[in-house]
Amino acid sequence: MILNETSYFGPGSISSIVDEVKTRGFKKALVITDNALICFNIATKVLDILDSADLSYQVFDKVTPNPTIEVVQEGVEAFQQSGADYLIAIGGGSPQDTCKAVGIIVNNPEFSDVRSLEGGANTKNAAVPMIAVPTTAGTAAEVTINYVITDVQNRRKFVCYDPHAIPVVAIIDADMMVSMPASLKAATGVDALTHAIEGYITKGAWELTDMLHLKAIEMIGRSLRGSIQGIAQDADGMALGQYIAGMGFSNVGLGLVHGMAHPLGAFYGTPHGVANAVLLPHIMAYNADFTGEKYRDIALALGNNHAATLPIEDARQAAVEAVIQLNRDVNIPVRLRDIGMKLEDIDALAEAAMVDVCTGGNPRETNIEEIKALYEQLY
Ligand SMILES: NC(=O)c1ccc[n+]([C@@H]2O[C@H](COP(=O)([O-])OP(=O)(O)OC[C@H]3O[C@@H](n4cnc5c(N)ncnc54)[C@H](O)[C@@H]3O)[C@@H](O)[C@H]2O)c1
Ligand SMILES: [Fe+2]
Repeated sequence: MILNETSYFGPGSISSIVDEVKTRGFKKALVITDNALICFNIATKVLDILDSADLSYQVFDKVTPNPTIEVVQEGVEAFQQSGADYLIAIGGGSPQDTCKAVGIIVNNPEFSDVRSLEGGANTKNAAVPMIAVPTTAGTAAEVTINYVITDVQNRRKFVCYDPHAIPVVAIIDADMMVSMPASLKAATGVDALTHAIEGYITKGAWELTDMLHLKAIEMIGRSLRGSIQGIAQDADGMALGQYIAGMGFSNVGLGLVHGMAHPLGAFYGTPHGVANAVLLPHIMAYNADFTGEKYRDIALALGNNHAATLPIEDARQAAVEAVIQLNRDVNIPVRLRDIGMKLEDIDALAEAAMVDVCTGGNPRETNIEEIKALYEQLY
């Protein structure tokens, strides 16, 4: 298991960043974030704390959603010019992933083309130390060894996994997330549920990660609706639930939902969580016969107590229906055409999904024809 060295939880925990920086002897940070988080005074909550403690930093705020190779390369340049000796990422998965790639390339410059990091690159050195402050409750990028970069030229999103990329410190403070609009809470929340469900049924799953994923499913299932309504306890539940899912899936992998979602992000810029959310119940149904008793556990964790005694086919159906209901309650679109997919791209989408790093973890062996059929049915 690979996890952060230190992590902090709970509203207000962001103030612990000062002691972490001082104890670790860090001198100057490059803060990687996106411009909206500066404009809306979200990243500035952290910058104010750094200012009050007289800690020096420089800001790189050019990250875009579905971050690109070019943004990573600009970030590397910004780090080199800044004289910084550590990184702070403030934001959702996009700033976190950009920051990981920057930290890896600074200490492993032979990968500065970025593309060669795809999959499990053989980096020699740990990344520049990184403190991760998530502002969405979804990707869990603050505790994963993964990062996802978009290759605009080749219309691809590619997944990298590297134990050297894990942030040393993660600070999971729901106060950093409250400003999310409802649609972003929904999308990122169902991304987290997708991590928990795919991680629970992925090929490499084992008892320890099962424990994490099942707890995450339960917490996300009971907290997502309330967090969208602004209930503080549920916002906290989402912040922790998504992190617990990350502790699991980072160590065992995901599946076909993520494999099929990444090409949608690359082709149409679809927000990652939305792409996953639309796909999740259907791919769950596709995988159902290859999951043993696990969908019964999922249905129970999502609050369907009858699932305990149902025949397994019905329990599996109950799990899928619980996810459909949750999607409906948080206003997730139903069809891929609603999120911009074009039928003429199906061949290319299916080819990209087939070779995506996540697809290999899917419990059911798949192939291009079946993936095409799934995209088509969901269109
Ligand atoms: N590293 C991993 O393990 C992992 C896992 C899943 C997904 N991802 C990747 O993460 C990216 C998606 O990240 P994301 O879904 O967190 O969104 P994001 O980081 O792309 O942010 C989406 C938008 O939300 C805004 N935003 C973020 N926090 C906000 C807040 N608190 N209040 C108001 N607005 C806020 C941002 O400014 C941005 O415009 C994708 O590229 C995806 O592939 C990575
Ligand atoms: Fe995800």
